[in-house]
Amino acid sequence: MITYNEPIRTIKLDTPHTSYVLGVLDGGFLLNLYYGRRLPDDDLWSLSNRLPSASFSPSDPEYPHFSQDASPMEYPTNGRGDFRVSALSVRCADGNSVTDMRYVSHRVFPGKPDLPGLPHLYAADDSLCDTLEVTMRDPYTGVEAVLVYTVFNDCDAISKHVRLTNRGELPVKLERALSSCVDLPSMKYDLITLWGRHAKERQFERRPLAHGLQGIRSKRGSSSHNQNPFAALAETGATETTGEVYGFNLVYSGNFTLTAEVDHNATTRVVMGIEPTDFCWALAPGESFVTPEAVHVFSAEGLGGMSRVFHRCYGEHLIRGRWKTEKRPLLINSWEAAYFDFDTEKLISFAARAKELGIGMLVMDDGWFGKRNNDKSSLGDWFVNEDKLDLGRLIDTVHGMGLKFGIWYEPEMISPDSELYREHPDWCVHVPGRTPSIARHQYVLDVSREDVRENVFGQIRAVMGRYPIDYVKWDFNRNISEAASATLPAERQGEFFHRFVLGTYELQDRLIREFPDLLFENCSGGGGRFDPGMLYYSPQIWASDNTDPIERLNIQFGTSLCYPASSVGAHVSACTRTGYRTKGDVALWGTFGYELDPNKLSDGDREIVKEQIAEYHKYYDLIRGGDLFRLICPWDDPFVCAWSFVSRDKREALVTLVRTLRQEETLLHLKLQGLRPDAIYTVEETGEKYSGALLMYAGLEMTGNPWDDGESCKVHLIAE
Ligand code: DGJ
Repeated sequence: MITYNEPIRTIKLDTPHTSYVLGVLDGGFLLNLYYGRRLPDDDLWSLSNRLPSASFSPSDPEYPHFSQDASPMEYPTNGRGDFRVSALSVRCADGNSVTDMRYVSHRVFPGKPDLPGLPHLYAADDSLCDTLEVTMRDPYTGVEAVLVYTVFNDCDAISKHVRLTNRGELPVKLERALSSCVDLPSMKYDLITLWGRHAKERQFERRPLAHGLQGIRSKRGSSSHNQNPFAALAETGATETTGEVYGFNLVYSGNFTLTAEVDHNATTRVVMGIEPTDFCWALAPGESFVTPEAVHVFSAEGLGGMSRVFHRCYGEHLIRGRWKTEKRPLLINSWEAAYFDFDTEKLISFAARAKELGIGMLVMDDGWFGKRNNDKSSLGDWFVNEDKLDLGRLIDTVHGMGLKFGIWYEPEMISPDSELYREHPDWCVHVPGRTPSIARHQYVLDVSREDVRENVFGQIRAVMGRYPIDYVKWDFNRNISEAASATLPAERQGEFFHRFVLGTYELQDRLIREFPDLLFENCSGGGGRFDPGMLYYSPQIWASDNTDPIERLNIQFGTSLCYPASSVGAHVSACTRTGYRTKGDVALWGTFGYELDPNKLSDGDREIVKEQIAEYHKYYDLIRGGDLFRLICPWDDPFVCAWSFVSRDKREALVTLVRTLRQEETLLHLKLQGLRPDAIYTVEETGEKYSGALLMYAGLEMTGNPWDDGESCKVHLIAE
């Protein structure tokens, strides 16, 4: 719900449990007066009386008592007396970058507008959300900023983006055009972020805020393994279950910044959007630029509460298409089973064995196209390597067995040793006169160019149109350097990175529009592009090339800070760190599948795999539709790790524990969460009955269970 209080000029955005209050001051200054637990409507007037004074900070002479520098500015700009990190900086035709946005008008309407060309939250029908558009204008440059907010009435999330239009008469350049700013009147928060690298993505990190700047960013051309475009501010002392937490996530897959600045008044500003380094967008008169969308979540129920809001929000308002709700096939992927060493017969043998186990889909990974028998060639040559493969016979045979069939692509890349490169050497991302840098023997294909997109999509369409393919895995295996495009004029080269991301989005959009039944999975050397932008196109993303179940715990727990279990690509591999039970219990958290040669399984392991597949079906609805509770996080406890999925009606729960490091017997009374205190739950494995209250407050007795390094166990609870 969004309400405007005319006498005091406040606009209040309410979700079920949160409020976000804007205030319009004389002079058109737009303030972020409050964000937190839901407030009543009656005494909002007092919020604008709380602005600290500022000495030394310049003010508009017409409003000498108002200081932008000391106020919670809703969309702070550069050069007019607010010296903190800004959201917008416009270089005008005179060459200066002074920018000043003042309120002009606003309107409220039901539903949510699309962001053309960009991923975004959506609502299935207009009654589920309301949108506020606040129009602001810089009187000097004529640049208009329309701040667009949507509040959902089924989850505590608020989305924001900004539409910038040059309504002046001269060209300008956007040097910073961020999506969102939140100013909080305290610095007593910890900043939580997810750092990583290849095979070690989304590692939880928590640090107290300090005065000055702190934050994360990517300049790699993609959201990256190294920092995820997510951050939380957790009030000091907040835990998984208690305390106020703000979550911020950018619906974007390219360069991003997420910066917190604490000022001399101990207030905290958080801004997020496209990383300004290497960004510059020219706006001729009449032209517009739309920022990516930012998602904000507030929870007074700790980090767990915040995560569950993100999960519901993304499950309902971000993930789309047939596979949002339809049961997804359980897959086996050829990569770790064969790498590049496969042919038709080998893949048929995988499928035959997989079928006996109960697996529903075979995915043929890298190595089926051009002359690709290792990673040194053929990206860009998206036609079947007929020396290696009879794709028609393979798919017919696999389909004949009752299995679905999937294929791998890496459309944004080009190998120097490829027909495509020999024909179009200028199609790789490069700066003329400089040697393009190479990574994994490949260059990046310039998908900011329409002709390049036409070619690569034409090749994809030729294969997908000819063969009945049920699934695509879309990979992206390097960072971008020498960022420039041969088709952009000099003054627009700063637009390259964003145009590249828009090109990728356009390609993915075409793929899922032309093949709407496709199950689509994103991937980037594991989870190097695990972000909400990608989730808008594909309902699942391969989380990491690291399939070691113990290391996966950190990756999956970190990922769960904001991404739902249904999106987390997780497979059982031949990794020997633990037995198959633990590997299965950990992979059950996510989409679940296999990444191994099924012919090489021992008889004992084959039986375990069959049981796992039965469990996958048994718990499918609970894990996809239930709420996740992180009971013991790997970053809090080196010995044991535990989580549960609880059905929305709280009648069923699946608890999983993994002993990450054996220790001499220490009591473990595992306190469950999210149950009904007064309900009686039966432990399926033993028949024991306990109240929800006992399970949550006294805990489930799990001392010594599981016992040894790398062992796991599950407890299934059903309420009467
Ligand atoms: C990286 C991916 O993460 C792997 O799963 C696999 O698809 C390889 N690329 C193939 O080159």
